[in-house]
Amino acid sequence: MGLEQVLHMNGGEEDFSYANNSSTQNDVILKAKPLIQESIYEMCSSNIFSECFRFADLGCSSGPNTYLPTWEVIEALDLTCRGFNHKPPMLQVFLNDLPGNDFNSAFKSLPSFYERLEKEKGDEFGQHNCLIAAVPRSFYEMLFPPHSLHFIFSSYAVHWLSELPEGLVSESGIPMNKQNFYIGKTSPSNVRKACLDQFEKDFTLFLKLRSEELKSGGRMVLTVMGDDKHSPHVWDLLGNVANDMVSEGLIEGSKLESFNVPLYSPRAEEVRHIIEREGSFNIHQLQTFNISWFQISDMKNHEGLELDSSKYSEVGGKIVAGRKRAVAEPLVARHFGKAIMDDMFQRFSIKATHYLEMEPRAAYPSILFSLIKKRTFYIK
Ligand SMILES: C[S@@+](CC[C@H](N)C(=O)[O-])C[C@H]1O[C@@H](n2cnc3c(N)ncnc32)[C@H](O)[C@@H]1O
Repeated sequence: MGLEQVLHMNGGEEDFSYANNSSTQNDVILKAKPLIQESIYEMCSSNIFSECFRFADLGCSSGPNTYLPTWEVIEALDLTCRGFNHKPPMLQVFLNDLPGNDFNSAFKSLPSFYERLEKEKGDEFGQHNCLIAAVPRSFYEMLFPPHSLHFIFSSYAVHWLSELPEGLVSESGIPMNKQNFYIGKTSPSNVRKACLDQFEKDFTLFLKLRSEELKSGGRMVLTVMGDDKHSPHVWDLLGNVANDMVSEGLIEGSKLESFNVPLYSPRAEEVRHIIEREGSFNIHQLQTFNISWFQISDMKNHEGLELDSSKYSEVGGKIVAGRKRAVAEPLVARHFGKAIMDDMFQRFSIKATHYLEMEPRAAYPSILFSLIKKRTFYIK
């Protein structure tokens, strides 16, 4: 079965759903807010849109974050149009994700989104002027007609690959990255190269497709999870848990050896190099930032009481484990079996607690960038 049929976050609204465990990604989206505002302001000043503004959020998932980028776009349009004394355009929004995404839950909360919109923004952005549709398809395929979109946003999605890199298995079928889920300390050097090659291939295709779908001068703002040479990747911590479970006879060694996560967290210079080589976009901004594994306010919500500082690492470990589970469980359970999930993530919570004791400011390195589609000039 293709990866696009298997990959998705935990749906629904249960304890380990993405809807209840996506505050970190919410923080990431909010980091992009100034670039969303700037993109819309500059598009409005150069008359790229007038009556209708077409926007797509790629890898929207399901939960409170599904409508957050749309909300930020509306805020930016509102602010910009007031400044220019323009009537706001009609907004057409496309929420994209893979077919396995829980679109049902996402669309159940659409009425409350419209309610908030009408309450806070009035008729101008009410449901008749903001039309929202789903596009269930891989963003490594064409999603929209040529030159149809003004603005594309995507947060923490494009680091997911279209497939596992070929180089993770030798020509004779032997797994190369045996003890690791991702690129770990014991990974052979060609594992990083295989993942980077796949990312380069995928991201190049992504840029080419999006450049065809955007209007000339259209914009794109993206975030991806980046790479930190000095700290382990969060998928490595989960790989360490799987190794412990192999030593205790709870997982077969061959199962561990044959699992890899289809993801690559690039370095900023790799992203820059791929964009420049593909050639359809000018890089307007490319920034790196760190996003904490969790915030103190998350801990208060989690415990339902004032924070006891002696519990910082333990409560933090539980929060991080819940968030990791919401993202990783569908893939991991499919390979290792649903039955060991509670045990695996309980152990992960302990690993994360130990890590937080050494590194209380643990954070996800992230990359934020804003691109402008190069203008095409035709010679008559
Ligand atoms: C970590 S979630 C981020 C969701 C949301 N953007 C946020 O910031 O909370 C990544 C999302 O990207 C989606 N995704 C991964 N690969 C994709 C692809 N090839 N096409 C469309 N969506 C994809 C996943 O299904 C998942 O919902």
